[in-house]
Amino acid sequence: MATKVKTYTANLGKTLRETNKCKGRLLYYFPPKETPAPEEKGQVAEDGWIGWHNDSGFMTGLTPDMFVDDTDGSVMENPDPEGAGLWIVDRDSSAVRVRVPPDCMAIQVGECTQVVTGGEFVATPHCVRGVRPQFVPAGRKVARVACPCFVDTHPTFKLRIPEGFSADEMLAKGVSSKVPPLAERWEPGQSFGDFLGATFRRYYDWALGKSGPAAKKARTA
Ligand SMILES: [Fe+2]
Repeated sequence: MATKVKTYTANLGKTLRETNKCKGRLLYYFPPKETPAPEEKGQVAEDGWIGWHNDSGFMTGLTPDMFVDDTDGSVMENPDPEGAGLWIVDRDSSAVRVRVPPDCMAIQVGECTQVVTGGEFVATPHCVRGVRPQFVPAGRKVARVACPCFVDTHPTFKLRIPEGFSADEMLAKGVSSKVPPLAERWEPGQSFGDFLGATFRRYYDWALGKSGPAAKKARTA
């Protein structure tokens, strides 16, 4: 960034190397519930294991996922490799299934990196889809295990775009109908901590709008 954009000042290499805001989360995704309705037989929600979102921070390191039998913990191959696991929205706005090879890790760009690079890096909307019922081996319950590592800055870190960059252009990058727009949550010069607070509130409202009483009313109207 420093060689490409002369006004870039975030110095993320140093900032993230020295941060104490680095956390790994060992996540366990329980087997999806039985099919809820006859007309949806054989289906699982597109984002049933984790809903569509952008990571709000700076960088997320992703290990390859593991699939296990929920009853005894034995490891198995992904029984639904075309469906189950991590999905992202690519730069053409298509949903794409992503596989991280067993000996690799993936780095996911978060929204704060999008802001401080003026949109040179773009946050990637993603979700996790469960195993479709027809692919679950008989008598087994399939769960998923993953361990993302979130690398962020101190909450007081100021989220500024590089001088000479357009906020509107930065905010227009990676816009997707699947996640709340960054423009509704970021303000110039805002601290990372305040941005996180605004983002959690917006995602909460967004989730209520999609599945809460108001949304149900609208769907049945
Ligand atoms: Fe995420």
